[in-house]
Amino acid sequence: MYVCVCRAVTEKHIESAVNAGARRLRDLRTQLGVTEECGRCAKCAKQCLEDAVGQQCAPDTHPTCGPVSFQLQEAT
Ligand code: FES
Repeated sequence: MYVCVCRAVTEKHIESAVNAGARRLRDLRTQLGVTEECGRCAKCAKQCLEDAVGQQCAPDTHPTCGPVSFQLQEAT
């Protein structure tokens, strides 16, 4: 789905930007050009950014961003 029609930016572009370190709307503007033309994409781009960051930092997939579960092993 296109998030920014003016710059032809899709959700996949935003996911790639997040994987490359983008964490703020400003980062997406710098890297992809979102919001630089009409600005109508700002809300959707921010939501996609938050979703992509949330997926990347899900507790079970990224131990430094969420609780880590430990399994204790009995000493033998
Ligand atoms: S839709 Fe993104 S700047 Fe116009």
